[in-house]
Amino acid sequence: MNDSKPLPKSLILIGFMGCGKSTVGRELQARLGYPLVDMDQRIEERTGRSIPEIFAESGEETFRDLESAALRELAANTDDRRIISTGGGVVKREQNRTLLRELGYVVWLKASAEDVLERTSKSKHRPLLHTDDPLTTIRTLMAEREPLYQETAHLKIDTTDLCSDEVASGILECARYYFTQHQQPPTTT
Ligand code: S3P
Repeated sequence: MNDSKPLPKSLILIGFMGCGKSTVGRELQARLGYPLVDMDQRIEERTGRSIPEIFAESGEETFRDLESAALRELAANTDDRRIISTGGGVVKREQNRTLLRELGYVVWLKASAEDVLERTSKSKHRPLLHTDDPLTTIRTLMAEREPLYQETAHLKIDTTDLCSDEVASGILECARYYFTQHQQPPTTT
């Protein structure tokens, strides 16, 4: 497969914390040469505060407002081709789900609760998982969010037993096929 052949639109990675969006994003960036936008990193740069600081000082709703604003800014230019790695809760707001599909081809990376726990257990950067029983928290949040990921994504990939290289290959193959069938990804109404 020719990885350097351009895609007509951006690729957007959604999914739960610790499902591998950042790693797969870097892999896609290396193959396609598109800029990689990490939305959490962008929010941290814009505010000069870390994600845990924003949650601790201003609360989750303020973080969600910043996240929606960052997404609106990206969606103001849908012609730019980018790899966009989102925060796991970006799908909570309906307006965000609509914007994500307008931006390009949306890929849901799905991991099991046990895998997520293993990958996030040493992280200090995920305030929502700082609970007495993180596995139960993960399961509860996953159950709430899975229908939203499902509704938003053009493609779902179960990342269990796949390395980032294999996930990236699967995404590119499916995205190319999709874009041969659709001139533009459809927008939700
Ligand atoms: C969040 C996921 C985090 C970050 C914030 C909230 C969530 O991003 O945006 O801590 O609600 O799932 P990652 O998915 O990159 O960990």
